[in-house]
Amino acid sequence: MKLKGKVALVTGAGSGMGQAIAVLFAKEGAKVSVVDMDAARGQKAVGLIEQNKGQGQFISADVAKATDVEHMIKTTVATYGRLDILVNNAGVPMGPTPIEEVTEDLYDRIMAVNIKSIYLAAKYVTPIMKQQGGGVIINITSIAGVRPRPGLNVYCASKGGAIVLTKALAIELATDNIRVNSIGPVATDTPMLAKFIGEDKDFEKGREKFISTIPLGRLATPEDIAYAALYLASSEASLVTGINLEVDGGRGI
Ligand SMILES: NC(=O)c1ccc[n+]([C@@H]2O[C@H](COP(=O)([O-])OP(=O)(O)OC[C@H]3O[C@@H](n4cnc5c(N)ncnc54)[C@H](O)[C@@H]3O)[C@@H](O)[C@H]2O)c1
Repeated sequence: MKLKGKVALVTGAGSGMGQAIAVLFAKEGAKVSVVDMDAARGQKAVGLIEQNKGQGQFISADVAKATDVEHMIKTTVATYGRLDILVNNAGVPMGPTPIEEVTEDLYDRIMAVNIKSIYLAAKYVTPIMKQQGGGVIINITSIAGVRPRPGLNVYCASKGGAIVLTKALAIELATDNIRVNSIGPVATDTPMLAKFIGEDKDFEKGREKFISTIPLGRLATPEDIAYAALYLASSEASLVTGINLEVDGGRGI
């Protein structure tokens, strides 16, 4: 087991990649705080962890709110005594929208959930990790933050910002033995995919169009992303910090 004795917190763990990361980390021996805004999904993910004989707890939080982020971190330390690995995975998508039609509300919400959450999590977890002598932060970004697609303007910008924030935190926290990396998935088979395709569009055609842009010829699965996160969280990656690990079938080349 690669994470025996470790404590992890995964945001957006009620669905898709977050759920796959939480379940894999628990199988690898970590105690896992499953954080989500959606309690039913979060409880279901804890159920999956327990079915696999792992240990997990659900914490309700909106990662865009400072009080909720502080609460999810404090609750994890109160239950499990420490926090070694924090995965900022929760994110919100947008459908293809010409820039002239992007509302200020949509812009603000995407930036709050996709970037501000990373700043908030770092602000509250850093003192704990410093005190423990180190830790690992993993941010789920997107290949869209490196190779934008038309119409996903603000979403791409939020992920590009998250990649740079990852590097900025990595350089700032290296001397405290806190490693900060991100993972940039290509289009992934999760409930979010339909939103990127456009909910008024033909899903299968949209899916095929995405696949046609990926050199290795398939979408990512949540497990592809979970195994990348496991590597970055493990001691095998102890010299790796500040990278955006593209799990993208070659789309970023
Ligand atoms: N699916 C893709 O094609 C794709 C590709 C690249 C990157 N990503 C990124 O991967 C991450 C995970 O996406 P997914 O596809 O697994 O999505 P998903 O929609 O399957 O799951 C997202 C989860 O996050 C939760 N969530 C949303 N906003 C939240 C908030 N403010 N606070 C707490 N929880 C919140 C939702 O309730 C949901 O359970 C996101 O950051 C997303 O931007 C997705």
